[in-house]
Amino acid sequence: MIYRNLEEKLKEKSAEQDVLLSLFDRGATVIFKWNNDETWSVPYVSESAERLFGYKSSDFVNSTIGYIDLIHKEDLQRVHNEVDAAIKEGRDYFEHEPYRLHTKKGATKWVHDSTVTVRNAEGEITHFLGTIVDITVVKEKDKQLLQQYKLAQMGEMISMIAHQWRQPLNTISITASNLNFDIMLNKYDLSHKEEAQKFKECLCENLSNIEAYTQTLSKTIDDFRNFYKSDKKSMLLNTSEPVEKALSIIKVSLINNGVKIRQVYKSTRKVNLFDSEMMHVILNILKNAEDNFIDKKIQNPKIDILSYDTLYGVVLKISDNGGGIPKSIINRIFEPYFSSKDNKVGTGLGLYMSKIIVEEHHGGTLHVINNKDGACFSIELPA
Ligand SMILES: Nc1ncnc2c1ncn2[C@@H]1O[C@H](COP(=O)(O)OP(=O)(O)O)[C@@H](O)[C@H]1O
Ligand SMILES: [Mg+2]
Repeated sequence: MIYRNLEEKLKEKSAEQDVLLSLFDRGATVIFKWNNDETWSVPYVSESAERLFGYKSSDFVNSTIGYIDLIHKEDLQRVHNEVDAAIKEGRDYFEHEPYRLHTKKGATKWVHDSTVTVRNAEGEITHFLGTIVDITVVKEKDKQLLQQYKLAQMGEMISMIAHQWRQPLNTISITASNLNFDIMLNKYDLSHKEEAQKFKECLCENLSNIEAYTQTLSKTIDDFRNFYKSDKKSMLLNTSEPVEKALSIIKVSLINNGVKIRQVYKSTRKVNLFDSEMMHVILNILKNAEDNFIDKKIQNPKIDILSYDTLYGVVLKISDNGGGIPKSIINRIFEPYFSSKDNKVGTGLGLYMSKIIVEEHHGGTLHVINNKDGACFSIELPA
């Protein structure tokens, strides 16, 4: 009797499991079982694999292809490292950063992979169980957004270059036209040796001024070009470095608009930074503050920049006295395309991209609050 009961219970349980597994056969998620061997051979895969990657279960089970053969070459090492790291840290569940898989027809798909490790009684990992979700559409959309953001950013950059250039260009033009006047009005009597000498000196001085100014012009271009180089590797830096670089680009424009800037760097810790990405973030925040000052015609506009160390890392605060962000929109400013500015000025991508850069590329957080006088953005980075 007891035996019969047990048998029925077992049957019930395995029927339940079959229903559960059929969910993966019909749904969009693929479930994999990988052996912990050289090629990550596949003893089981749900039928949904065929819809997503064109591979049937039999393609794996009865053949020599392993899961490793599907992974994009450029991602393979990283995927391996992520598995090794998880094992080393004794984690029995981990998620991979998105990586690419080849379909049977040779197309490429981005996937999200969550995996659990399965051990035997001795504690050795015998295999892995995981779910794979196709996120190609999301990834493509991200790429398009990034492209759009870069274009918009380029527009802003050009307007900042224009600001930087205005003053030296003006000076060059004034110097040249003054010289022209002197010559036309015969200010120097060139038949006199002394006067001719004076003229020569004056000419030399003015020409070398012009030369110095053109050098400033070309230096600004270099600065901007460096700014645009995307850095593939992060570097250990103090947070003041990207702040100073961003300031060197936007300072002229801020000063022209009467904005007082105060920097207090209390943080001494270095953090892993993608230098130019972080500059973009800071530049975005500064530019938004400036846009708001102009829009609201704020008297005595001020921007405070403060950095300090915490138990876990570094905090960088950028606050302004521009009256803050209206309550009705403060929850939406990090959404893509959200902008309160007219289309010509605002793309609504700045803060959205900034959040991705801080949170996804640097493992930090970016948030905003309204202070007494204005908005305060804080960037927290792990050290
Ligand atoms: N310092 C600030 N003061 C007031 N409003 C701000 C400030 N920073 C951002 N905002 C608001 O957040 C919105 C989104 O900013 P952002 O994503 O950079 O897009 P954009 O600058 O193109 O409008 C802005 O349109 C503005 O309404
Ligand atoms: Mg902006």
